[in-house]
Amino acid sequence: MRQKLFAIFMITLLFLCAVESQATTIRISTDQTELILQTAPDGRLYQSYFGDCLKNEAEIANIKSHGWEVYMGSGYEDYFEPALGIIHNDGNRCTVLHYVSHEQKNVTEGTETTIHLRDDVYPINVTLHYLAYAKENVIKTWSDISHREKKAITLFRYASTMLYFSDSKYFLTEFSGDWAKEAKMSSQQLQFGKKILDTKLGSRAAMHVSPFFELGLNAPVQENQGDVLLGTLGWTGNFRFTFEVDNVGNLRVIPAINPFASDYSLEPGTTFTTPEFIFTLSHHGSGEASRMMHSWARRYQVKKGNGSRMTLLNNWENTYFDFNEEILGHCMNEAKDLGVDLFLLDDGWFGNKYPRNNDHAGLGDWEAMKSKLPNGVSGLVAKAKDAGVKFGIWIEPEMVNPKSELFEKHPDWAIRLPNRQTYYYRNQLVLDMSNPKVQDYVFGIVDRLMTENKGLAFFKWDCNSPITNIYSPYLKEKQGNLYINHVRGVYNVFKRVKAKYPDLPLMMCSGGGARCDYEALKYFTEFWASDDTDPVERLYIQWGFLQVFPAKVLCAHVTNWNHVASVKFRTDVASMCKLGFDIGLKEMSKNELEYCREAVANYKRLEPTILDGDLYRLVSPYDCNHMSVMYVDANKLKAVLFCYDLHPRFNETLYPVKLYGLDADKKYKVKEINLMPGEKSNLSDQNKVLSGDYLMKVGLDGFTTRDMNSRVIELTAE
Ligand code: DGJ
Repeated sequence: MRQKLFAIFMITLLFLCAVESQATTIRISTDQTELILQTAPDGRLYQSYFGDCLKNEAEIANIKSHGWEVYMGSGYEDYFEPALGIIHNDGNRCTVLHYVSHEQKNVTEGTETTIHLRDDVYPINVTLHYLAYAKENVIKTWSDISHREKKAITLFRYASTMLYFSDSKYFLTEFSGDWAKEAKMSSQQLQFGKKILDTKLGSRAAMHVSPFFELGLNAPVQENQGDVLLGTLGWTGNFRFTFEVDNVGNLRVIPAINPFASDYSLEPGTTFTTPEFIFTLSHHGSGEASRMMHSWARRYQVKKGNGSRMTLLNNWENTYFDFNEEILGHCMNEAKDLGVDLFLLDDGWFGNKYPRNNDHAGLGDWEAMKSKLPNGVSGLVAKAKDAGVKFGIWIEPEMVNPKSELFEKHPDWAIRLPNRQTYYYRNQLVLDMSNPKVQDYVFGIVDRLMTENKGLAFFKWDCNSPITNIYSPYLKEKQGNLYINHVRGVYNVFKRVKAKYPDLPLMMCSGGGARCDYEALKYFTEFWASDDTDPVERLYIQWGFLQVFPAKVLCAHVTNWNHVASVKFRTDVASMCKLGFDIGLKEMSKNELEYCREAVANYKRLEPTILDGDLYRLVSPYDCNHMSVMYVDANKLKAVLFCYDLHPRFNETLYPVKLYGLDADKKYKVKEINLMPGEKSNLSDQNKVLSGDYLMKVGLDGFTTRDMNSRVIELTAE
């Protein structure tokens, strides 16, 4: 008997070893990081490693499995948050995915990996996609869910991916806030249980929290050292990041569309594609992580990411709704006088039966208002041409005011409840973008403006209201699909606009910076970061957004908010991102105007360094009463340093600003620019030639104890 038992034991062992040796290993690698996935004897796929690239392939088999299933289904053996949740046709809520096959190929970016999984009981297929950008050290991942059950299945979880960590401590940096308080940074240690960052706004990703995060492994996130995961979801709607620390201290990170009120009905033979989760892992702090994300974004993701950007003058903060053709003509001349490329006409130019003279009426009726603009939009394009600037226009095409001809004609195009009093956010409703007819109408707005007004060079595309009164007349009994199909409908329109107008620059806006995600940026060249243009507040907002987005996409305008701050300070703050103005020039003195002209000229000259260079965040406004950032171009021949004093204390001790990213062996001429007319720089090293070594070790006296003071310093290799 004992012999028989031993024989059975040996056979089982041999069988297990055989299966073990057949384990499939999938390495998803950039030049620096790799994610290793392996099958186990149960035929399922597990994450076995995520970190620095491993040198010896043979040792991979030695890594112990933690039982971290790559795309965990709900209802089987795991007690924590799953990636996938399905109600099958028979009401069963359990899904277990088994590895089927995978392909990996080299592409220009790096490698593309596709992994096929299948449930062994139900006809459910999941395909996992990973695109690894070798040089930029960024990985982008998303998943496709499809099935062949008889009737529609209901998805109640549909994560983009899942990542696991096993570190001593985890520190999460989130970017929360509100309207006019975007991307404020705060950190906390994650302990047992869940921390969820999510939004339920429908038409945009953000308002109270942004769709990105930083995760410090073992220690809080630091600028230039430590392990940091920087992650973001490309989804212009409800998102949810789940960070769950389990009973043994492991962390799982689950980026996903927020399943809130979104049990999704998926028909047989159709595919549910999740948004892309984009991440980078750095061992040298958030500074390096940002630089990697920025260069990836410019190179691969953002519309015209490698192209230049137009400086502009906007009229919103200057005139609000109160303008006519003559006033706009003055603004265009002012734009020319300032030296910017484009004049941008904001809200208030349309509606006749219900004129858009305030935010109560007119949204939906995209005809030029005859009383204000007798010669229509084409008259304005021509006027701008005469003034010598380009012309751009504001639209908010996904929205409708109940006081509009559009609403009178198509009340069923608006998302609103049939059986309750309607709640209005900014007196408007969101159009139902899940309805293909509405998509056609929205595309038609842009298309008609472009076709009828040759020379129209730019759009500011706003989206002021979150979705309220959640009910789609179009989707009827499939209301669980509304939040998701709405966003997909928005993308259908964005795609059509990009296909027909591939070179058209567009600014994305959402009542400030609430649309701030990398999926929408495939279709937009830039976004409006915040309605808060107080320069001190802006420094924090820009510091926050710059963690994830390159300066090139962050629109920063000089306005009259906080007019106690000098025009120079306001302009220098806007000059560290994509510079624009939203101010009447008559409000400036002769000196201020002269200063602005020179600042615009300097900006244009230095644009390749500021907008395409590497960003180094030197001094954080969260740490002291000052802030400093610098940009260095790729060949380290030119750098621009921005130093800001916020509200320094009396007699405060000032520390030199140590520079980063220069070539230690090169010599750089130090020159403060953007000085007020007639003013001489009092920078102690003005016009000196100093080595990169010195500048990075000793630094420059960039700060002062003056309230809201700024310095812009150009460094040129000799
Ligand atoms: C909100 C935007 O953030 C502002 O810049 C401006 O365009 C207004 N909408 C116009 O209504």
